[in-house]
Amino acid sequence: MSAPLLELQAVSHVYPDGSAGLDDCTLTLHRGRRYALLGANGAGKTTVLQHLNGLLRPTAGTLRQDGQPFDYSRKGLTALRTRVGLVFQNPDRQLFSALVEEDVSFGPLNLGLHEYEVRHRVAAALDAVGLRSHARRAVHQLSFGQKKRVCIAGVLAMEPDVLLLDEPMAGLDAPMQTELTALLDRLAARGVTILLSTHDIDFALRWADDIHVMAAGRCIASGPAQQLAAQTDVLQAAGQRPPAALALHAELVALGVLPQGPAPRSVDALLDTLRALKQSGVITA
Ligand SMILES: Nc1ncnc2c1ncn2[C@@H]1O[C@H](COP(=O)(O)OP(=O)(O)O)[C@@H](O)[C@H]1O
Ligand SMILES: [Mg+2]
Repeated sequence: MSAPLLELQAVSHVYPDGSAGLDDCTLTLHRGRRYALLGANGAGKTTVLQHLNGLLRPTAGTLRQDGQPFDYSRKGLTALRTRVGLVFQNPDRQLFSALVEEDVSFGPLNLGLHEYEVRHRVAAALDAVGLRSHARRAVHQLSFGQKKRVCIAGVLAMEPDVLLLDEPMAGLDAPMQTELTALLDRLAARGVTILLSTHDIDFALRWADDIHVMAAGRCIASGPAQQLAAQTDVLQAAGQRPPAALALHAELVALGVLPQGPAPRSVDALLDTLRALKQSGVITA
């Protein structure tokens, strides 16, 4: 297997006020996968994301890029942030221009790209998030969900290989969550590596290929979503309950309603299975 795209190796981070942000945290991102960084409030998710694009620097331990220890020179940081885009949890922390298109063009202009290329990238990024018609709108007039999408467009305009999103679903209503999930699916299909933080295990199981579980500044377990979501001891250590789909599936198997077998990844998938069994006459009720 090729060297991991990004890797935190035994990283600790102490904030200036003495608080521990990370404590000997090790985790790895491989190319083209969809990762959920799962953990309760204060587990260290935001601190991990900020290390992965060089906004924060380890107090101890190493960030590796393509297997090499990361070089924190100005040139190194620019290259890293071009390749690894971070979408903050709070859009107001990320947006600072008056107009949508100004904000989205800021990064590409800073890269020194030709004006024509910048215009092309801004249009493509706004298209990707469904806001092409909002290019000339004032940022402060947008809804929370629209601001979030402008932030994502700003990062996409850099054409990153890796997209980091800090609690992207927080504060979005259900239709907007569905829309954002579809956008993430399209990006993943294009080969973008995605890591998003969440405290929602149901979402992590439904969406991610792999889950990194955080607790008290450490990554306490990593692995395929379906495997990890079934490890109740790990989940308990991270303050998580078992996913609804797994709990419900286990209950229906115990009742004899469903045969033994692999659990579905979402309650919707479980409902589909039940409906199919009912239609084929296996379940009668
Ligand atoms: N700017 C900061 N200054 C001091 N402590 C911080 C700061 N940001 C986060 N922390 C602390 O670091 C730990 C991890 O926080 P964070 O990475 O924000 O967790 P999460 O994103 O999982 O909620 C927490 O104990 C938090 O209080
Ligand atoms: Mg956070």
